[in-house]
Amino acid sequence: MRIRKACAAAALKDVAAYFTKEQGQVAVFDATNTTRERRAIIISFAKEKGYKVFFVESICDDPEIIAENIRQVKFGSPDYVDRDIDEAMEDFIQRIDCYRASYMPIDDERDRKLSYIKIFDVGNRYLVNRVQDHIQSRIVYYLMNIHVTPRSIYLSRHGESELNLLGRIGGDSGLSPRGQKYANALATFIKGQNIRDLKVWTSHMKRTIQTAEALGVQYEQWKALNEIDAGVCEEMTYEEIQENYPEEFALRDQDKYRYRYPKGESYEDLVHRLEPVIMELERQENVLVICHQAIMRCLLAYFLDKPADELPYLRCPLHTVLKLTPIAYGCKVESFFLNIEAVNTHRERPVNVDINRNPEEALQTVPDHI
Ligand code: F6P
Repeated sequence: MRIRKACAAAALKDVAAYFTKEQGQVAVFDATNTTRERRAIIISFAKEKGYKVFFVESICDDPEIIAENIRQVKFGSPDYVDRDIDEAMEDFIQRIDCYRASYMPIDDERDRKLSYIKIFDVGNRYLVNRVQDHIQSRIVYYLMNIHVTPRSIYLSRHGESELNLLGRIGGDSGLSPRGQKYANALATFIKGQNIRDLKVWTSHMKRTIQTAEALGVQYEQWKALNEIDAGVCEEMTYEEIQENYPEEFALRDQDKYRYRYPKGESYEDLVHRLEPVIMELERQENVLVICHQAIMRCLLAYFLDKPADELPYLRCPLHTVLKLTPIAYGCKVESFFLNIEAVNTHRERPVNVDINRNPEEALQTVPDHI
């Protein structure tokens, strides 16, 4: 108990540091197996610091769901290394009984002043009490949309486009001959996967629509999936951006996530634009998203929990499908290159990002093109 109390105190200190030093907005504090006194400590700590508390209680009595959860989450824990599976299952069920003895559920009558959501049997039913603000209502909305039905999300960029061949960013060109080959290869790949009730989504741009057409199935077009708007730099090559807007080019290298093209967008803007898409992806089961380099990086970063500074450099090559399969506490990723050559469109961050760098240094990592 002494160790557990010390851990809880350290976690509260962590929360405080996250809000003050790191300017965090929402901290998640795992209060599993919390007794009434410990809940009171959290509440008074929050009150003293001026934080709002929102409790999420997940109540599950379904033995099958519990057994599946133990199988997926607990067998990998250090407690059960080299232990027989049945024995581990038995042991963990006993452990839940011990938790039950000390855990104090949120009581709808006594705790009516608290803000909380109760989730019954992984989303069969919800009870929501006293939502205090916008963030809490978004948390409720999010929790009511996620599910645990096994499924996969397939992410692919469009086939190589005419502008990709020329090393020009943005625009709305059609597919190159190799891009069209990829569209056909994608159709064969998807058929081979035998996916139940697959939904196909594209952007409003020609190159994603032409790619989806080859599949010969219905698809839905989302404007929110359109590629990053490069504003005044649309349809330029990276070399032309360096020539015409050398400062802008350097500023983007300094902070690619937050940099916004003049009259265009930043990666940060995309993350906001994609929120409804992500929410709908959470609600759906099997989906193939045919999108663009910057968009695919944002979606991948969400599912793989990648930080903002890594996001704009995630590798999403053309003609490659990423299959994401949610598993407990993460996502399994499988990558399939469909064997159709394509240009490389990935530009690494160069070593020198100073505004006064010379053009060779600025162009050091630009990929080859015609
Ligand atoms: O080059 C292809 C492309 O999809 C462009 O349309 C887009 O501007 C670019 O990739 C995004 O990648 P980055 O942010 O690395 O420039």
